[in-house]
Amino acid sequence: MIQLPERLAGILLAAGPGFMPERASSVAEGVDHVFGFLFWLSAFFLALIVALTVIFVVRYRYRPSRREPEASPDHDNRLEVLWTAIPLALVFVIFALSTKVYFEMTELEPGAAPLRVQVTGRKWSWWFDHPGGKGANQLHLVAGRPTELVLASTDVIHSLYVPEFRLKQDAVPGRFTKMVFTPTLPGTYPILCAEYCGTNHSTMLTVAVVHPDQAAFDAWAREGQGAEETLAQLGERVFAEKGCSACHSVDGSPGVGPSLKGIWGKDRKLADGKTVRADENYVRESIVKPGAKISAGYDDVMPPIPLDDREIQGVIAYLQGLKEAP
Ligand code: CUA
Repeated sequence: MIQLPERLAGILLAAGPGFMPERASSVAEGVDHVFGFLFWLSAFFLALIVALTVIFVVRYRYRPSRREPEASPDHDNRLEVLWTAIPLALVFVIFALSTKVYFEMTELEPGAAPLRVQVTGRKWSWWFDHPGGKGANQLHLVAGRPTELVLASTDVIHSLYVPEFRLKQDAVPGRFTKMVFTPTLPGTYPILCAEYCGTNHSTMLTVAVVHPDQAAFDAWAREGQGAEETLAQLGERVFAEKGCSACHSVDGSPGVGPSLKGIWGKDRKLADGKTVRADENYVRESIVKPGAKISAGYDDVMPPIPLDDREIQGVIAYLQGLKEAP
């Protein structure tokens, strides 16, 4: 029974206590503010329009004393400008508020060393490859540490949704998507799939465990280590087995193709004069469609390499691990 007033207060405050789940990430407050603004804006116009409708219906209703419509002007420039300018200004405010929050959840702060987790959605479970090579069906993070999730899917579109983080991002087959945030509260939070993906969509549940500090995370990451091949080890093996190393060195020495030492996250000069950031989607494209972006000074001679998603994730983890070029 004590629940009800609290819930009501939450609704009235739009995203206050009791109405929304706990805020457990750096972007949660911003999302709640955008939500609250939209909520109250909509509530205001709902009340205004309903009230005017009722007043006009009563005021201009049919009466025996008034059978013909009243004469009224058919145009008013001031009104036209007013009801165009006010909504226009309001949508610009909404645009500005939400764009600011959107950038917070898509762009890392410059210079941040994020905890980077590779997330894979598949029918019907999640898989998380953590730094250091630990794979798990739960997401493990560190409170206060900037985090970048890189999402992939092996089959259909899934969507990683963590209500306490106020974050939701599709995992799309054939490309990588990203989610950037900092978890703020240690704890365990439910993860859901928010995109209908077939029979067992509703069972695609797991949790995000936010460790209080890096030491607790490291202790977890060390448990049972060594038995399985890590993502980076898989990548190194693929790199050798598929013949990548024949043309691409990893020590900075030139070859048929550019050396891959230290390229991760850097801007690459292309043959057509453009530049491109060496990120997940660039690496994927360069493997499956090598002719799409040719590095400056090299020829379009690389054949497409048919790797599966996990192998591509492995190569990415391997490239991330290569030391900086001198
Ligand atoms: Cu995966 Cu719904």
